[in-house]
Amino acid sequence: MPTAPKASYEEPPLGRRDALFVGVAGAALSALVGAAVMLQPVDVAQAYLGGGPYGRQVTRGQDLSGQDFSNLDLTGQDFKTSILRQTTFKNSKLAGASFFDADLAGADFSNTDLRGADFSLCRATQVNFTGAIFEGATVTGNTQFKGSNVTDTDFTDVGLRTDQRKLLCKIASGTNPVTGVDTRESLLCGD
Ligand SMILES: *[C@@H]1O[C@H](CO)[C@@H](O)[C@H](O)[C@H]1NC(C)=O
Ligand SMILES: *[C@@H]1O[C@H](CO)[C@@H](O)[C@H](O)[C@H]1NC(C)=O
Repeated sequence: MPTAPKASYEEPPLGRRDALFVGVAGAALSALVGAAVMLQPVDVAQAYLGGGPYGRQVTRGQDLSGQDFSNLDLTGQDFKTSILRQTTFKNSKLAGASFFDADLAGADFSNTDLRGADFSLCRATQVNFTGAIFEGATVTGNTQFKGSNVTDTDFTDVGLRTDQRKLLCKIASGTNPVTGVDTRESLLCGD
């Protein structure tokens, strides 16, 4: 059950959020963020607020390393080409989200819903994917999973490169507590 978002990533009050929820880019965005800062003090994390193609936070092409995105509904959120080293997504809903060409080294994706998400061309090394559901996710290109934990992870209908599938089969175990899917079976480990 998602709990209240952490203080570091609070939803802004409705009025200001609506003011910021417009499709803007580049200079217009910084002008808008500047205006929001003048209205009332905001913390640094909120400097990213401003509206993206899928959500209210601009999370594409950003360095969001070490930030806490746990227990949030980030369905369809765009994290393309972002740097997310040691970033925490624990217990969050990320179905359909994009991590295309992102750096996820050391991130925590435990117990996340990653159904249909895009993990193409990712650095997914040393990541905690314990209990994550990847069903139908896209993993094309040279995405690397070295050193990651896939205990209780569900890889149903995920096309993985042969070398990465073999690497994961060496360490995979368990059953996903939500879907009831056996991790090794979902990886087609053949045992
Ligand atoms: C991975 O996540 C699980 C569930 O949140 C947690 O129990 C475990 O300690 C984590 N493992 C590491 C190495 O951080
Ligand atoms: C993965 O994490 C689980 C608990 O979250 C732990 O029991 C297991 O030893 C870890 N496996 C690897 C390969 O790190």
